[in-house]
Amino acid sequence: MKILPINQGNKRTNFKSCLRTYLPDTAIKQSFYDGYVRTSTNMFREDINWLLLLKYALFKFMDADKINTFSLGASDGSEAYSFATLLMSRLSKTMYNKFFPIIAVDIDDQMVNAANSRKINIHDFEFASVNRDYHINLHDYFINKKKSIQIDNDDAEWTEKGTFHSYEPIDELKDAVIFKKSDVLTEINQMKDNGISLIFCRNIFPYMSTGYRNDVISAAGNKLKRGSLFILGDYDHTIEITPALEKRGFYRPFQGNFNIFQKK
Ligand SMILES: C[S@@+](CC[C@H](N)C(=O)[O-])C[C@H]1O[C@@H](n2cnc3c(N)ncnc32)[C@H](O)[C@@H]1O
Repeated sequence: MKILPINQGNKRTNFKSCLRTYLPDTAIKQSFYDGYVRTSTNMFREDINWLLLLKYALFKFMDADKINTFSLGASDGSEAYSFATLLMSRLSKTMYNKFFPIIAVDIDDQMVNAANSRKINIHDFEFASVNRDYHINLHDYFINKKKSIQIDNDDAEWTEKGTFHSYEPIDELKDAVIFKKSDVLTEINQMKDNGISLIFCRNIFPYMSTGYRNDVISAAGNKLKRGSLFILGDYDHTIEITPALEKRGFYRPFQGNFNIFQKK
């Protein structure tokens, strides 16, 4: 069993980590990480400018009746819940419902089960930093504080006791996200895009085998139509991902922002 250092390849410290994952799928077997890896996530992960993304998505998709929103490699749901709470905190119900439900998939049974338990571990520090950075009180969205849910090898087990707790998303937030087990390639291949999709596919590419990764990028290039957004994370740039996406028709609308890509 190989356990990677928590922040391997990631410049920033994630204060909530690490969720265990085992990637037994043939798609990942060739991965150079091969076997058990630690992965991490947290609410409002810092490697994206969430407000910039929101403003840009509104600007691009303002007239759409429905925006197809996906969180691929969703882990425990932190990413999908971050975007959902941001939308709910900033927009009218009519507007934010256009982005829902967010389809959130992960290949790892334990992650999908944790997400579908309708509970999520959140660190005290996450509440504070999201409040500071986004003026969102996550306590309005996550309730019924309980002992943290146990996930194998999750940092929650060994980080200072008492700082992680599990919370239940409020009903409206629960209903905003559909969690299911699936893999990135299958989901992208099934997409029927009309240029109005927002796809989080973040901090996941380095876990893929080269062949599978190429298939994902090529499927994204084929399936996504002009205008759709494809969002990466910092960790994805530990491999050469930008040239591959550019070759498949994606560009970065914001100079200096490495994680927002759009289909030309
Ligand atoms: C580092 S976490 C990223 C979580 C979240 N996207 C973020 O950026 O915070 C990577 C997640 O991707 C999942 N994963 C890895 N390969 C996958 C694949 N081919 N399809 C779907 N999920 C995958 C892992 O199980 C893990 O939960």
